[in-house]
Amino acid sequence: VTDDGYRLWLKYDPIADVGVKKEYQKFTQFIAAPSANPVVKSATDEVQQGLSGLLGKVVPVVLSAKGQSGGIVLTLVTDKSQDFANKEGYSIETVQGNIRVSSESEVGLLYGSFALLRHMQTLQSLSAITLRSSPKVRYRMLNHWDNHDGTIERGYAGSSLWKWYELPERIDPRYRDYARANASLGINGSVLNNVNASARFMSAEYIEKVAAIANVFRPYGIKVYLSVYFAAPKTLGGLGTSDPLNPQVQAWWAAKVKEIYQYIPDFGGFLVKANSEGEPGPQDYGRTHADGANMLAAAFKPYDGVVIWRAFVYKSDPKGDRFKAAYEEFTPLDGQFDEKVIVQVKNGPIDFQPREPFSPLFGNMPKTPLGMEFQLTQEYLGFATHAVYEAPIFKECLDADTYVNGKGSTVARIVDGTLHGYARTAMAGVANTGSVRNWTGHPLAQANWYAFGRLTWDHQLSSEQIAREWVALTLTKDKKANTQIVNMMLHSRDIYVDYNTPLGLSRPWTGVHFAPEPWQNRSSRPDWTAVYYHKADSVGLGFDRTANGSNALAQYRPEVQRQWSNPDSCPLPYLLWFHHVSWDKKLSTGQTLWHEVCSRLYAGADSVLWMQQQWDQVKAHINPETFADVEARLRTQHKEAIWWRNAWVLYLQSFARQPIPPKFKKPE
Ligand code: GCU
Repeated sequence: VTDDGYRLWLKYDPIADVGVKKEYQKFTQFIAAPSANPVVKSATDEVQQGLSGLLGKVVPVVLSAKGQSGGIVLTLVTDKSQDFANKEGYSIETVQGNIRVSSESEVGLLYGSFALLRHMQTLQSLSAITLRSSPKVRYRMLNHWDNHDGTIERGYAGSSLWKWYELPERIDPRYRDYARANASLGINGSVLNNVNASARFMSAEYIEKVAAIANVFRPYGIKVYLSVYFAAPKTLGGLGTSDPLNPQVQAWWAAKVKEIYQYIPDFGGFLVKANSEGEPGPQDYGRTHADGANMLAAAFKPYDGVVIWRAFVYKSDPKGDRFKAAYEEFTPLDGQFDEKVIVQVKNGPIDFQPREPFSPLFGNMPKTPLGMEFQLTQEYLGFATHAVYEAPIFKECLDADTYVNGKGSTVARIVDGTLHGYARTAMAGVANTGSVRNWTGHPLAQANWYAFGRLTWDHQLSSEQIAREWVALTLTKDKKANTQIVNMMLHSRDIYVDYNTPLGLSRPWTGVHFAPEPWQNRSSRPDWTAVYYHKADSVGLGFDRTANGSNALAQYRPEVQRQWSNPDSCPLPYLLWFHHVSWDKKLSTGQTLWHEVCSRLYAGADSVLWMQQQWDQVKAHINPETFADVEARLRTQHKEAIWWRNAWVLYLQSFARQPIPPKFKKPE
């Protein structure tokens, strides 16, 4: 067993190219850093570690370049001469024979140092380096759905990274490596516990444990946050109520927040799931989400922390459309939230499906900062056995045009605050990390953590650019192999969609969200069955969300509605999201719906074989352990893709009552 998977994209393996090595030698005589600030020390430690790996030498860290050239110089600039977009930005350039990394803040120097290392890991020239970058979003965070007993809700890579039973005394060295990996991407916040929160995290015992983790993260510019159980004043505090308008409840939270800040002076804030899927919340007392959020925000007034309130809500309504729920509940509250509140919205209106239209909340709460919530853990994407590169999912949403202020009103511009002028902007990813040696289970799933982090910093990066970078840092320096792997990654999401939820189908599972169960029609709630979502019947397939159906389309601007409202022109990836289409309808491909569904399901499953071939061909360029790991998972994926295909085909055939087109092999 090697450390290949553990080291993620921070590998720093020796550079073999003699020319590149020679050039790098010229600029690596010393590392000069202005202060002994712990964040700056993280930066110099990392550069030192990086150079020792890449070049095989120990480079001294000094306080000043003293007029010498040939070194790396970290410089805090105070005169604003560099005109950074914000304090966390950095620039890297050659000045008087040195590589100068500058920023207005210590953490900017850390980000710049990682960018410099990335530049060197990808063997680019230093002589004419000019890099300049500032994050577009302020709160760039991972949300861990980790429980206090070490389990992770929807986690597929082992148990929690946080060893609650060992804390605060024992500090697992892995906490620091986690912080390094995140800081290298610009991630600056970590919500440590599950949104289905245990009140236990508000106890003094746990606050002390959390503080120990915060101490490890601090030198990497990462703040810790906690998910809170809204009814904690009752269950933990012993009060008779958790009503947000009750003065005793307000005082309880104020005291709790104060207590937390005594242990963790830079505590990030709270993440709240309330009145959602059975969790308690302000509505239990006839109050609104805004009442609940503002009560917590008041407790944070003396401090820097924020309240991140989730908009993931839907009610059990046999006649309703879950798609519409968050919009209906939250848009009337626009303008009522305290300035310390960010409302966190999942990318799509349902729940992290393999493909969803963007949530109609984006753009429709101009007075409330809306944060983005993406899911990195592959709850609906084949867990850690299926290879799905998620950057295209993130980009599809970020680049979508809401038209709320005319053309160009993309979701990205809402989230980064430029459209509505939000002061606080946020992007969160539900983490896919766990205790397994390689962090994410599937080695290729590391790319999803990486891509999310890079996009929180700069949502304009392309999926391909990020994949190229990740492959070069993580898997191979070989250019041809890089192109081949990147191509496979870029197709992987559509391949998964084809065998799992083609043409805009959604949620063909119940329970653990893994095995195909499109037939599932019994549950305590109608919206927890599979048939609720695909609506297969003898006429056709799909959920009618036009004016003839639930009219969820009305939550979008007319320009967006026009894209999706006509079944003849609606792009096929979204067709069954918005229309109930008859089995015999001819689609733009020239095939009937039934034929097209079959084509996609078969093509999807067959394409996993193609992925296997692509991977086999790069064998010579990949660490043998990582190669074998992915190779084996792809075989499982193929087996399961066929399982999915067969389940769908046989089930839908019972409604379509048509033969499987002869070119396809019949399910056995
Ligand atoms: C999904 C997921 C749950 C999670 C919930 C949420 O429904 O299956 O495990 O708690 O989303 O985001 O709150």
